[in-house]
Amino acid sequence: MAIPKAELHLHIEGTLEPELAFHLARRNNITLPYTDVDHLRTAYDFTDLQSFLDLYYRLMDVLRTQQDFHDLATAYLDRAATQGVRHAEIFFDPQAHTNRGIPLGTVIQGLVSALDQAHTRHDISTELILCFLRDRPATEAMDTLQAARPHLHHITGVGLDSAEIGHPPTKFTEVFQAAADLGLRRVAHAGEEGPADYIWQALNHLGAERIDHGIRALDDPALLTHLATTRTPLTVCPFSNVRLRAVPTLDVHPLPALMDAGLLVTVNSDDPSYFGGYVHDNYLGIQQHLNLTNEDLRTLARNSFTASFLTPQRREALIAEVDAYHFD
Ligand code: HPA
Ligand code: ZN
Repeated sequence: MAIPKAELHLHIEGTLEPELAFHLARRNNITLPYTDVDHLRTAYDFTDLQSFLDLYYRLMDVLRTQQDFHDLATAYLDRAATQGVRHAEIFFDPQAHTNRGIPLGTVIQGLVSALDQAHTRHDISTELILCFLRDRPATEAMDTLQAARPHLHHITGVGLDSAEIGHPPTKFTEVFQAAADLGLRRVAHAGEEGPADYIWQALNHLGAERIDHGIRALDDPALLTHLATTRTPLTVCPFSNVRLRAVPTLDVHPLPALMDAGLLVTVNSDDPSYFGGYVHDNYLGIQQHLNLTNEDLRTLARNSFTASFLTPQRREALIAEVDAYHFD
């Protein structure tokens, strides 16, 4: 069994495997612009974040009904369980669905029913994080937050994703303040392709408690010191960074440098069906390519619970599982 861990950076729409995409397309009488699974896989050759996002949003068209969202999340959680995931804080992109005419309630009810099942089937705890699409207008994000109000008992926090460059965090200051006023936790993608200054903005203007990706922090020594002293977690996604060419190869991934700078680093899968592996695959990939020891992996697993929004009681119980884990 893989080491127990939390996954804190996972877009549920990014877990849509090609086989499930074709299955849902057939079920919903949709014709995909690909002849079969192998043909679709040839489209997974990305050059940057935008080239991935184009396919990510296009394939979402197969997600139409509550059952579709349920099946998507169930498939992820079944796989996550085999990868040692004991807790998952799951992103979803409401605007990518409501802008296609899918009601927000359909999305949330479908996801929540799958998460409830996973609690009993796999003893995995979960949280849902509603992400705003930063390449859409800030007013649309505010409308989305208002539309989510009847569902807030299912939602732990808000996040910020999609095309980063040209869409700085300050564009969303007002909606993040409104989310805080509703008692929601706040995270934001920053410093994936965008500059270190976007990380400062996410911290200072959005009140982000965690930074998603954040690898560009290495460009700014003062920011590194700040992140280390405040114990602000980074949710790093190694396979994603390589596939989207934010980092040339896994062998030169900056994860060790971030750990050496004293940051609270976690390892996550981002969009596992698109980037060649789930979260434990990322752990094994970095271990092999960055010469990490088993104890380094234990530190990363421990960090994943420390950086989570878990209650102290479950956090401590899961950290104790990490400490007791025996590597084969
Ligand atoms: N970055 C930005 N937006 C995203 C990502 C990502 O890695 N995955 C899904 N939406
Ligand atoms: Zn992401």
